[in-house]
Amino acid sequence: MSAPVDLSVRVGTLSLKNPVIAASGTTGFGREMADVLDLSRLGAICSKGVTLEPRRGNLPPRVAETASGMLNAVGLQNPGLDRFLEEDLPFLLGRGTAVVVNVAGNTAEDYQELCRRLDATGCDAIELNLSCPNVKEGCMAFGSTPAGVRALVRAVRPLTRKPLWVKLTPNTGSVAETARAAEAEGADAVSLVNTLLGMAVDARTRRPVLRNNTGGLSGPAIKPVALRMVHEAFQAVGIPVVGMGGIMTGEDAAEFLLCGASAVQVGTAGLVRPSAFVSVADELADFARETGCSRIADLVGALRPW
Ligand SMILES: Cc1cc2nc3c(=O)[nH]c(=O)nc-3n(C[C@H](O)[C@H](O)[C@H](O)COP(=O)(O)O)c2cc1C
Repeated sequence: MSAPVDLSVRVGTLSLKNPVIAASGTTGFGREMADVLDLSRLGAICSKGVTLEPRRGNLPPRVAETASGMLNAVGLQNPGLDRFLEEDLPFLLGRGTAVVVNVAGNTAEDYQELCRRLDATGCDAIELNLSCPNVKEGCMAFGSTPAGVRALVRAVRPLTRKPLWVKLTPNTGSVAETARAAEAEGADAVSLVNTLLGMAVDARTRRPVLRNNTGGLSGPAIKPVALRMVHEAFQAVGIPVVGMGGIMTGEDAAEFLLCGASAVQVGTAGLVRPSAFVSVADELADFARETGCSRIADLVGALRPW
């Protein structure tokens, strides 16, 4: 039998048993998946975006299948911070995996309050969603310029000692610049990509498929764009990069690690097949074995130049 592969990785000070994290918004707060998936096998679980107040999200239809991907315009439906802290976070913390809480707000003060209160909890990291394309205010408005990222991270950084991951948008001029802005203000990691702003049209009804008109594109269709952006961010900053966008297999995950991601997130694949959250890690171990790699962390940033 071949030697076991060491799948553990570090994202800054946070150690993960394997590099596969369930991406925000695709396992809710874990309960939906717990019946069909052993959550303790995940490297970490990232919560659905939490806002200060409850949000009902956008009206349906708010998801649509597209070629090699999907569009969503869920609009950050969530029960709000109070209920999350009372009911959802305790559940997540008992699942034997690291917990990253994804937060979103309309104003800098919203993000400050979210971070201040999460600092007093047992969560392992906070992911600032500065990139949701499906809400009218805040969020992507902060994330689409380096100045916006800088101002937001500066506002929250003093309020928490938790690792702060800044989730960047691909819907911007330069992820290298927004990543550098996050690093300059003390972010512990950048995560990317959030979904690409897109649209689907039903020619028969002559209507946009989504009630919101536009939505965020995810899944294999975005992987080449995401890989390029992870590579750019990795070259631009010294803090860890958490990569995602269209990962369906272990080999997809390896591509992100090679481009510089210290860990990866899996979203849409898990909506297609819940076991994907775990099989990606298993396949990554197989890939490492086949290619003579005994420590998965050795793949990080190991892309060979031509
Ligand atoms: C239905 C759905 C809901 C999502 N909700 C959130 C969210 O609340 N916060 C966030 O930062 N990203 C959210 N995302 C984006 C994912 O976390 C991820 O960045 C994106 O889908 C790309 O990864 P994938 O191609 O593996 O799905 C959502 C994605 C989907 C498909």
